[in-house]
Amino acid sequence: MERKIKELPRTLLHGGDYNPDQWLDRPDILAEDIRLMKEAHVNCASLGIFAWSKLEPEEGVYDLDWLGEIIDRLYENGIYTILATPTAALPHWMSEKYVEVRQMLSNGLRKYPGERHNFCASSPVMREKMRGINSALSRRFGQHPGVIAWHISNEYAGCGGDHMDGACYCPLCQEHFREWLKKRYGTLDNLNHAWWTGFWSNTFTDWKQIHAPSAMGENRLHGLKLDWKRFTSDQLLDFCKEEIAAVRQYSDRPAVTNFMGMFYPLNYFKWAKTLDLVSYDNYQPWHATEDDVPTAMYASMGHTLTRSLKKQPFLLMESTPSLVSWMPKCSLMRPGMQALSSLQAVACGSDSVQYFQWRKSRGSCEKYHGAVVDHKNGGNTRVFRDVASLGERLKKIAPSVLGTCNQPKAAIVFDWENWWAVEGAEAVTNPFGYDRRWLPFYQAFWRLGIDVDIVDMEDPLEGYSLVVAPYNYMYRGNYIETVKDYVAKGGTYVTTCWSGEVDDSDLCFLDRHPLGDVLGIRTEEIDVSPAYVHNQISWQGKDYAIRELCALVHAETAEVLGVYEKDFYAGYPALTKNNYGEGEAYFIASENDDAFLLDFLGYLAERTGSGSSLRVNGELPYGVTVNERRPVESSASGEVASAETEKGSLWFVQNFNSGSATMDFAERYRDIETGEIIEGKKELTGYQCLILEQA
Ligand code: GAL
Repeated sequence: MERKIKELPRTLLHGGDYNPDQWLDRPDILAEDIRLMKEAHVNCASLGIFAWSKLEPEEGVYDLDWLGEIIDRLYENGIYTILATPTAALPHWMSEKYVEVRQMLSNGLRKYPGERHNFCASSPVMREKMRGINSALSRRFGQHPGVIAWHISNEYAGCGGDHMDGACYCPLCQEHFREWLKKRYGTLDNLNHAWWTGFWSNTFTDWKQIHAPSAMGENRLHGLKLDWKRFTSDQLLDFCKEEIAAVRQYSDRPAVTNFMGMFYPLNYFKWAKTLDLVSYDNYQPWHATEDDVPTAMYASMGHTLTRSLKKQPFLLMESTPSLVSWMPKCSLMRPGMQALSSLQAVACGSDSVQYFQWRKSRGSCEKYHGAVVDHKNGGNTRVFRDVASLGERLKKIAPSVLGTCNQPKAAIVFDWENWWAVEGAEAVTNPFGYDRRWLPFYQAFWRLGIDVDIVDMEDPLEGYSLVVAPYNYMYRGNYIETVKDYVAKGGTYVTTCWSGEVDDSDLCFLDRHPLGDVLGIRTEEIDVSPAYVHNQISWQGKDYAIRELCALVHAETAEVLGVYEKDFYAGYPALTKNNYGEGEAYFIASENDDAFLLDFLGYLAERTGSGSSLRVNGELPYGVTVNERRPVESSASGEVASAETEKGSLWFVQNFNSGSATMDFAERYRDIETGEIIEGKKELTGYQCLILEQA
């Protein structure tokens, strides 16, 4: 039965992972937790994430009373529950009795019990046990007024120890892989063509001959490897869907699972379509180097990616309030960073600030991980005070923030299937490093203070004034038509070398670059410039260093804006522009330094009107960025009241320098927290975040 999904309460959620199951013999601690949560302005706790062995201590015997008492007590004290399904960690009775629930490695060995995400997503026993516990939780708590959402499992495929991609190579998974292939290709002939199996005598004459790629067998057939990645992500997603169906039986609460940003094994764009809400777990190595700006840019990208998956507010599901215990060096967050890094999530579209964890565990591998409540000193700690003061701030800003979201005019294409394909392409550099080469484009926008959406090749492009598509090696689905249509209707499209090489099946395009007409160029070769060459390009009278990649292309209808200055291709086009229909298409043939991206994307943002709407004189100081949230029709926290849609923009101006930075505001703004009117020069203190509206 299709249910209308209940919306989240209209509040900015503040709280985090809470594991009372570790403290059931300490009622004093549980009572103290509630008192401290209220003191810290906590209004939400994620419960039961790893509690399967307490919820079902013996096969088929459920003990949910302790959980019920805690949910009740939290609710009575104004604290909501995001209730987890506990599948991320299996109880030992299960993995001992049913060996098949454990994953099989690609060498054919079953994993030992323990750790997290050590389950086979195909296993009928695993699915049956999951349905059992999920239904029991749903039946008992699915309509509890305190329960506001389902936290489906935890970081699927993550936290799996040495083997972290969610893949299982057992005979059943291999069988499901063959079924998946049959659905995709219909016939073996189609598959043989798509995988180009004439190569190295790989032609398959029976589906049974197909095995998952493995270091012990076939590991070079690109089509096979790509499809195995697609299958692995899909198979786990299928498991997630079944988890959602199980909790949906008695409950209309939204389903969310926690994503990990650019997490290679799972295609989050596809996953997001199944979930009611998306969320992000943000762990960064703050202060690992003197300059926090690269970390800030990376964190911002994680938030932005998560928001972009549904283009609506997301939830920051986990973050540390102080340190991350699995980093090589577990530095403490410097005063101010806890608030700034949390508000950064809100600036990028989060409607929550949630921590891992509320209270430090007493034993095992996370006993020293950052938490709101330490082993000692209760609420009398620096970290607790920081959290409490942020909680108070969130409460104050909530009415202005709720019902708004970032609505950028620029987008960058990031595509998981492209990522899988390009890393395995055995070309250019091995591996290619798509995420690493892609990131500078995002960073340039960040430094310019321009919000962007991150889209994949299935997303519509209309509505954006500027679309940047770095290293789209694979063009899949209708992407070619989408881009043609977008540019023809007036869009500005920017792409780079190592784009448009292969189709969905990883087969090379023949004859011509599929967007050759749009770009007005003919592509030929690609060089990895040796480190000793120091090639450069010149654009608008300025020289820029080339990093590594240099495509050799010929301008047809395109105008040449910049050329290579050295090597045997000196004088070849390195930057081109072509008019196509109503729009423009740019081709960046070389992989250029950050200075180029800053200047070039800044120029295009200006030209296309996709820059920041916050008016400042001059450039933003280094380390300062701006995000803008504008009123929306609906949000993670529900439909927006019509009065709210009359609100204006909110600008989050964040200084990631430990020292001060001076801004020069070209218009009048009001600080929504202090009421201060700001115009002209204003000094931001180290790690400060201002939230402004138009005055
Ligand atoms: C996350 C995980 C949490 C906790 C945290 C520690 O990846 O979801 O359960 O382990 O890391 O940083």
